[in-house]
Amino acid sequence: MPQLIYTRYAAWYRLLDPLEDHREEGASFARMLHEGVSGEAKTLLELGSGAGNCAHYMKPFFDRVTLTDLSPAMLELSRQINPECEHLQGDMRTLRLERRFDAVIAQDAVTYMSTEKDLRDVAQTIFEHLRPGGAALVSPDCTRESRGEASEYHSRDDGAYSLRGVEWMHDPDPDDTVYTVDYALLLRHKGKVEMVHDRHLEGLFSLEDWTRTFTDAGFRVWWERHIEAEEIGPPFSPVVMLCRRD
Ligand SMILES: C[S@@+](CC[C@H](N)C(=O)[O-])C[C@H]1O[C@@H](n2cnc3c(N)ncnc32)[C@H](O)[C@@H]1O
Repeated sequence: MPQLIYTRYAAWYRLLDPLEDHREEGASFARMLHEGVSGEAKTLLELGSGAGNCAHYMKPFFDRVTLTDLSPAMLELSRQINPECEHLQGDMRTLRLERRFDAVIAQDAVTYMSTEKDLRDVAQTIFEHLRPGGAALVSPDCTRESRGEASEYHSRDDGAYSLRGVEWMHDPDPDDTVYTVDYALLLRHKGKVEMVHDRHLEGLFSLEDWTRTFTDAGFRVWWERHIEAEEIGPPFSPVVMLCRRD
């Protein structure tokens, strides 16, 4: 089932995840990619670019940026703040642009990979889109090591739209490869309020699972500290995975 906040209710997305929150993260991811790439890093492909928030802060570091996402509504949000970037619809498991990039990033959206096959498929997509010497940054929200229960209250207004709600992460079955994020949201626009329960099933794998899958796909893999490692705390992962196609 498509996640409602990325489709029907995408107009409220930035009230849940504001653009400004991605400033440091975007610049940090871009720098890590530049360090990971062998040779020049001029072209960037993002898989699951969402509202384009992180891309907005990564794009000054590259000459050309291509943004892809499953949801047309999220691509539309991204076009508003990244009009100079190429936008294409596609699933990160099956996307084949028949083009190679210097750098590829799959950050929080990669958390929607919920089976071992999904992981293998996204590793293959990244491999197919990187030139030899190119590097990728993969940043799942959580790993098995960082897993934990957490909740967050959201409250924002942008003039036309208002959102109040709770995001609640929990893991009903610790033995499977998914955890649950439930959003209970009150969404207001033009005086009308809708109550929405949006359930997201997200993937949960160990650092070893990620490393093994990407190594098997042909990458050299290493892990680096997330820019916000000190602040984020469980269940968010304090590390991101870097992979080079040698
Ligand atoms: C949290 S949002 C990403 C926000 C983004 N990091 C930003 O800076 O704006 C997650 C995105 O993952 C996308 N997504 C989920 N599954 C996907 C898949 N299989 N392939 C491509 N995109 C996917 C959703 O449509 C959604 O836009």
